[in-house]
Amino acid sequence: MEKVETMRRDTVPLSGVGDARVLRDYSTTVAILESVQDVILIAGTSGRIEYANRSALGLLDTKLDSLLGHCIDEFITDCPCEWASDTLSSANKPSGVLQYINNGILDNIEAGFKTGDTITPVYLSFNLVQDRQNRVQYIIITAKDITHQKRLEKELRQHQVSTISRDRLQALGELSVGLVHEISQPLSILRLKLEMLLKQMEAPGEPEKNRQIVRDGFQLIDRMAATIDSMRKFSHQTEENILSAVNVNSMVENAVNLVRADFERRNIIIQAEKDPNLPYILANPLYIEQVLVNLLANARDAFDERDSSDGYEDRDERKIVRISLVPKGGEWVEIHISDNAMGMPHEVVRKIFDPFFSTRKNGRNTGMGLSICKNIIDSLGGDIFVKSQPGAGTQFTLRLPTGHYDERKQLANLIGMIHHHQPQQQ
Ligand SMILES: Nc1ncnc2c1ncn2[C@@H]1O[C@H](COP(=O)(O)OP(=O)(O)O)[C@@H](O)[C@H]1O
Ligand SMILES: [Mg+2]
Repeated sequence: MEKVETMRRDTVPLSGVGDARVLRDYSTTVAILESVQDVILIAGTSGRIEYANRSALGLLDTKLDSLLGHCIDEFITDCPCEWASDTLSSANKPSGVLQYINNGILDNIEAGFKTGDTITPVYLSFNLVQDRQNRVQYIIITAKDITHQKRLEKELRQHQVSTISRDRLQALGELSVGLVHEISQPLSILRLKLEMLLKQMEAPGEPEKNRQIVRDGFQLIDRMAATIDSMRKFSHQTEENILSAVNVNSMVENAVNLVRADFERRNIIIQAEKDPNLPYILANPLYIEQVLVNLLANARDAFDERDSSDGYEDRDERKIVRISLVPKGGEWVEIHISDNAMGMPHEVVRKIFDPFFSTRKNGRNTGMGLSICKNIIDSLGGDIFVKSQPGAGTQFTLRLPTGHYDERKQLANLIGMIHHHQPQQQ
């Protein structure tokens, strides 16, 4: 130990007060490491763990045996940037790690510590221990549990998003009530007039061709009436909002049926998985279907954009949207919706859940889709997140609590949302 000194010693002197000679005593050093609240792992230059302190065992909820000798990458996930995971997997190339540390990048990375199905959010820092020849001896990994902080951040974000979109949604709601009223009356008159016309055309001698035109007209009216009806439902949804234990498979199937024709026309293939053993979730199925349809529509829009962008026209890759269902330890069900359209850059990813944020310039897109999705999923105590690779594709994940989750809390959240209050905390 004596030969080793931390690489920062020449630039940053020991900041503690007092005599550092006490640290030369092995058992004191170990006692200090063991009493620190943060996780401390020490790995060799190949990234294999050689020491884990008591907090590490506690946080990772594991025995020393299952840590020692394992590579640190096995326990780290959700590194937000690609360079971080690159660095981790090249941990046996200390020069790369050194470079990052010199650039100050390996401090306080937000990441996840995983064991089994559990992921704990942490701030990770890496430090290198070098000998006098500047050869790396050890990598010291420290991690701070930030579960509590993340929860507060989420609640704050939830509150911000719901206050902004609540106002706008309310305005939209009021607008749609007016629209429904304005349109449904002339529409029923139009229907009456067409019926009269059809009656007259029933007379002998009138060509069948014309009658068909009128019948087509009826179909169009029916479609408009259905749209108006769903708008009316949307603006009155508070009264109709009933939670029930629902089967994720059938919601996925319904959503896929709704978009099928549209997707076939564009040669987009939908591959939807089924899992008969999936636990039920507690939700309003119409809401979840709305979320799924929104996500599918976004994938469609991305393919449209890809079709009309430079640089993509030569791609003969098939257009595929995949829906997979992943149970997570009985408490959660995840729905993954991925496409191989065009992905999005980081600056876009950061804003997609903002109300009225849209990169589509066609007048049809309002930029409200994902903000509504997030509101709905938040109100169920779930989570929605996205991974995207520019030029390659996008994956949305919906994480929904199963019926095992505290139902009262979900109801409280939902009622909170409906009554335009901040979601309740327990
Ligand atoms: N699957 C996807 N692939 C690429 N970009 C997407 C995808 N889904 C969403 N986006 C981006 O997120 C933005 C916001 O989406 P959304 O809230 O549904 O609004 P809108 O679809 O009306 O633009 C889109 O304009 C688009 O830039
Ligand atoms: Mg959309």
